[in-house]
Amino acid sequence: MTKTILRALKGEVLPTPPIWMMRQAGRYLPEYRATREKAGDFLKLCYNPDLAAEVTLQPIRRYGFDAAILFADILLLPQALGPKLWFETGEGPRMETTTTPAQVANLKPTSDIHHTLSPIYETVSILSRALPPETTLIGFAGAPWTVATYMIAGKGSKDQAAAHALKASDRATFQALIDRITEATVEYLSAQIKAGAEVVKLFDSWAGSLKGQDFRDFSEAPTATIIAALKARHPTTPVIAFPREAGAGYIGFAHRTGADCVAIDNSVSPEWATANVQIDGCVQGNLAPQHMVTGGQALTAATRHVVKAFSNGPHIFNLGHGITPDANPDHVQLMIDTVRAM
Ligand code: CP3
Repeated sequence: MTKTILRALKGEVLPTPPIWMMRQAGRYLPEYRATREKAGDFLKLCYNPDLAAEVTLQPIRRYGFDAAILFADILLLPQALGPKLWFETGEGPRMETTTTPAQVANLKPTSDIHHTLSPIYETVSILSRALPPETTLIGFAGAPWTVATYMIAGKGSKDQAAAHALKASDRATFQALIDRITEATVEYLSAQIKAGAEVVKLFDSWAGSLKGQDFRDFSEAPTATIIAALKARHPTTPVIAFPREAGAGYIGFAHRTGADCVAIDNSVSPEWATANVQIDGCVQGNLAPQHMVTGGQALTAATRHVVKAFSNGPHIFNLGHGITPDANPDHVQLMIDTVRAM
């Protein structure tokens, strides 16, 4: 019997949508916080295959989600290209910046990434043996634009101003950086698939700040390049694309990139996404993560609303973005029970 997530990704309309949750392994879970403490810090946890597999499995054991997502981070790939990466407690990621032609030229060759990233493939391989037979294993990477925003600014930023500035002032260097990330992402995801990932997802978390032709050139085009290269090597592995807050950019995104499924954030209504995106195939989403903090009847009503709106087409239930550290684990259970009772 094929796994439910893989069936939905093939376009099947299931009586109950399969369900998983972005950032399902994370700080809202006491067992995650305990394992992270044991590892020392977040990056040590990412690079420790046994502990990274353990935290990936925690939400599967607790909730029985239909998919597990590899525990890692989108910034490990740029780190493998050379720039130093660290996490400031309470502030988020910091990275050595890459903004000059020389810095782009001095990034390590793509073939070198596996040296740094082999523990990640080991985590995937442990997971593909340890997961229950009904659970799908999802690998992932950041999409080139989103990864570039961190490489250029050296940290997260609200409006991705530094990346937009480089794009405007030195288009060739910016494009060269996007191309390097694109090429490395193909190798990284291909290695995850070889290690046992059954689906891969591209997180373009900052796609929403690319407008008009920029969205086509720097969200859509690199995504399409990566998907075409992956499909040539792994024709049966589905790809989920998440151009977060793309708005009208969601329309036709699957068609133009070759994605098997488009993940929808919660800035658009499920009805809009049904009419404009699900007409092209499977969609994933899009309950507001805030409900995992607040719970109650608002949560159950919004959950039913999402399930019902997407019920006439292929759908994977998820949040519209990652669950936050202040979420209540009981509310996650309530969401799952609500979906599965429909
Ligand atoms: O979804 C999962 O459970 C899989 C693991 C995963 C993490 N990060 C673990 C993580 C995934 C898929 C990511 C993706 C990621 N990482 C994105 C794209 C998705 C999104 O949320 O938009 C981005 C932009 C990053 C970069 C990143 N990593 C930031 C900005 C931060 C700090 C913000 C924060 O929440 O503290 C991280 C750290 C991070 N990545 C944590 C986790 C569980 C928290 C680290 C900790 O334990 O302190």
